[in-house]
Order: sequence, then C-alpha cells, then structure tokens
Amino acid sequence: MSNSEQSGKMWSGRFREPLDAVFEQWQRSFPFDVRLLPQEVAASKAHARMIAAAGILSEAELERMIEGLDQVGDITPEFAPLEPGMVNPRLLAAELGTTPRSIRRWLSRQPEFSESHVKHTRILLAKDDPLLLRMKNHFAIQANLNLDGDGATEEFPATTEADLAASMAHAEDIHHFVELQLSKVIGPLALKLHTGRSRNEQIATDMRLFVREAIDATVKGLRRWALALVELAEQAGDAVMPSYTHMQRAEPVLVAHWLLAYVSMIERDISRLVDARRRMNLCPLGSGAVAGATLALDRKIAAQELGFDGPTTNSLDATSDRDFLLEFTQVLATMGVHISRFAEEMTLYATAEFGFLDLPEAFSTGSSAMPQKKNPDFTELLRGKSARLVGAATTLSVLMKGLPLAYNKDLQEGQEPVFDAADTARGILGILPGFTRSLKFNFERMKTAATTGYLNAMAAATYLSNKGVAFRKAHEIVGNAVRLGLQSGRELHELKIEELRGLSDAFAEDFFEAITLEATLDCHDVLGGTARARVRTALAEARGRLSSADATQF
Ligand code: ARG
Repeated sequence: MSNSEQSGKMWSGRFREPLDAVFEQWQRSFPFDVRLLPQEVAASKAHARMIAAAGILSEAELERMIEGLDQVGDITPEFAPLEPGMVNPRLLAAELGTTPRSIRRWLSRQPEFSESHVKHTRILLAKDDPLLLRMKNHFAIQANLNLDGDGATEEFPATTEADLAASMAHAEDIHHFVELQLSKVIGPLALKLHTGRSRNEQIATDMRLFVREAIDATVKGLRRWALALVELAEQAGDAVMPSYTHMQRAEPVLVAHWLLAYVSMIERDISRLVDARRRMNLCPLGSGAVAGATLALDRKIAAQELGFDGPTTNSLDATSDRDFLLEFTQVLATMGVHISRFAEEMTLYATAEFGFLDLPEAFSTGSSAMPQKKNPDFTELLRGKSARLVGAATTLSVLMKGLPLAYNKDLQEGQEPVFDAADTARGILGILPGFTRSLKFNFERMKTAATTGYLNAMAAATYLSNKGVAFRKAHEIVGNAVRLGLQSGRELHELKIEELRGLSDAFAEDFFEAITLEATLDCHDVLGGTARARVRTALAEARGRLSSADATQF
C-alpha cells in the first residue's frame, strides 16, 4: 500500500511506512463488524448531539451530521436483515419515488409519530399501520404532481455503488467505514464527528447496543418456547410417564410435571438475561480512549439518546470492560445446556426402545441408505449447536483473563463468538417453539412404562410408614414384596393380601388403594411435587408468569 492510501486511515499522521499488505487485510475487523452499522450510526448520532451541546457543532451542522449519518445507515439491510415490522427508509423511498430524507421529515411531522417508531436508522411501522398507508398516499400524490416529498430539495449527493465498494474495500473497521461514507455524503464536516471520541469507547458502546438487542430477542424466543411447553403440558392433562434416576425407572410423574421442569430452566435463563441486561445498560460514550473525553461532554445526553440508564462510571473500565459479553455468552451457554438436555430426551424417547413420542416429520429426515429410518436431525443439531454456545463463553473467558487495563486489540476477537452465539440462539429459538408444539406423545406407551416395574414401591413404603412402621423397615419390607413379585412375574397390586401379611402385619386391604396410579401420584402432595392438584396449580402459575408483560419477575 502506498503512503497516500495509508493517509486515508484514521491514524495515518504518525506513520511513514506503509502497512504490510497481508497484515493489513488480516487485521481488519470490517468483514465481521460491518453488522454493527446500525449501532455505530446510532452511537455516532448520540455523540454528535453531545459535541453539539459542548459547542463543537452548530445547530445546522448537527442537523446535517444527523441526516448524513441516517443516510449512511440506510444501507443497513444489506448487512442486517430487517426484523418484522421494520421499514428500510431507502427501499421505501425507492418504491415511492422519493428520498429517505423526505420520508423521515414527513414522518417527524405526523402527530402520532413517536420515538417508538424509530430504532437506530430503521423505522418501525407495521405493514397495516395507518401512518404507512397515509405516507404512501402522500408520496404517490407528490410523485404524480412531480414534486419532491416535502418541497425541500435533497442537498446530499447519493453515495454511489462505487463509493460504497471503495469504502468497503478500504475500511479498517465499522468506525472507519462510517467516517469514510459520511465524508462522501456531507464532505469535510464529517471529520468533526471524531472530536473528543475514540474507537475504544465506540466499539464498547456498539457491542453493548448489540448485546442489549440480542438479549431482548432471546428473552422473547425463550418465552415463546416456554409457552409452547405449557401448552403441551396442558394438553397432556393427567397423562403419566415414568420418571428416571440413574436412567432407571423411578416413580410415575405427570407428563405435565416433566414438561414443566424445562419451563423452570427457561425461567432461570430469562431471569439471568434480564439481570445481565440491567447491569450492562450503561453508556461508555465520553470515556475517550482510556482516560475520559478531552472535552467537557454532558455524557447523560448520549446515554439518554441510546436508551441507557446512565453513563458508565470509570473510563478505564468502560473502554476495556467486556463483562457484558462474558455474561451474555455464559447465559447462552447455560441455555444451550438446557436445550441440549431437552434435545437428548426427545431423541431418546423417540427411539423404538422407548416409543414415547413420534417425531414430527416436518423436523426429521430420512436416510439415504436405510429406507425405514426417520432421523431426529433437529434434536441432534440442537445438541450440536449448544456446543457452539459453550464454545463462545469459553473463548470470551480465555480472551479476557490476563488482559491488562485498558483497551487491547485482543478485544476485537471477542466480537465474532458473540455474533455467532446470538445468531445460533436466534436460529434455535426460531424453530424450537414450533417443534415443541408439534410433538405427539404416545401416552399409552408412557403409561405402560409408568405402571410396570414396581414404580409404586415408594408409595407402598409410604403406606407402611403411615401405618407406624419406621421408614427404613418399611423400605425393607416392600423390597421383599418386590422380590416376591419378581419371582412370580407379578406387580405389587397383584400380590395376595395373605402373602403381604406374611411380610408384615401392617398390611391391610386398604393397601391396594394406596398403590393405585392415582394414589402414587397424589401422595406427592407437596409444593413442587407431582400430585395432580399441585401440577394443575403449577401449570396455571407458570402460564400466568409467562403471559405477563413483566419479564423481570422471573
Ligand atoms: N475494531 C476495533 C475493535 O473491535 C475497534 C477499536 C480499535 N481501537 C484501536 N485503538 N485500534 O476492537
């Protein structure tokens, strides 16, 4: 690279020698941090407002800067897909024969337009929002009259595809890219944007914004999955299955009780996410490179603009802290462990050996070799994907340990695992609720498994202990009864009362009522137990918590 090319860098002044060409490419983060464009534009707008308040930009310059940044951000969808309900001003403008700027101006003048309609550079409008329909009418009329949207001429030159390609090829990272593009849109004024800030605080801010959105999306997905499990549990009614310890049949439980175990795990995951979000929701902008901005900035301006609870309190920490990445990936790793356990149970219970459930065909594949097979690809992939989540948490921990304060370039390596974990979680949670809803249990098989193999032995021992026999002793007596049954191929309820009385005279006729399936379930009449009434209450409570809008109660 020539020195003149190098002078396009953000740090070229001090250098006389060009960068090694291979190193130059290798060290760039742009290929992956390009997805932070919406966050970078939002943080840059917030910074622009802060430096304007400090007198660095005039009102007019600020306005130009904001509009220029919006225009730079309009290319976002090429990098980050739009969420449902989001409108890309650039594409809409093309459709309506106007400019994104005119659309923004028109929208800002509508009485019902509020902050909730904007997210970064994107506009949030449902397809059937009357505002969107009105806007379309407005611009259609304008186009017919051959007028520009709001009478104002577009001052900015549209950046060309060639500009974009040049910035993309050249940008070291997303911060550099925005500066390059902004210069093309608003000229030399763009260079003022970097007044009083450093990329160290920018990347810390962008990543916080990214993680905050990823947390919200994950909570939403987890809640959907938990509700799918609750629905399945409600449909299961009083169906039973064996529970297992040591992978050996233990006691009968309600299928609903088993499904609610996963709901408990999910609620803990949600609670961890909500908690991590609360802790990370502080704004690093104004921390400078390491020691704080060199301008007397009112940091609350940026914090508020970006929806943070306030500014961070220490510049060394704020520029080098990645606890929020650690926490996020660790929570996702734990969530991955839960999902993997669920996946393992489904895989196992779908085998011919168990036969507890039929895998939905929509989520299974056949074998190219063995025509009879239906493979549980989805649950196997869930187990596999969870390894990536654990991997991301591990990478972050190893990355951070031993790093001296404050910013070090190592931190750049923390981005990709976080992106990968967020994408993996989104992919999983996009499918898991639908898969869960379409599960079909074979309740007959489950019941047979729950009512054979002496799963009521514990209830039998409880019967004896209720009759005054010490539990240790009761355990031994029932053990003897089980042996008797095994020798003659009979279950406990098939033994004769005389045979039982031969083992203990505490046995009476009411023993047989105490070991029915219903009694075996209902004797666990304790909070968190599988008694039918308890499970009904637990189910209603879980539904109540999950349906409530307030996720913080987990
Ligand atoms: N791409 C960099 C990162 O992700 C941005 C911060 C660069 N800071 C610096 N002093 N070189 O960490």
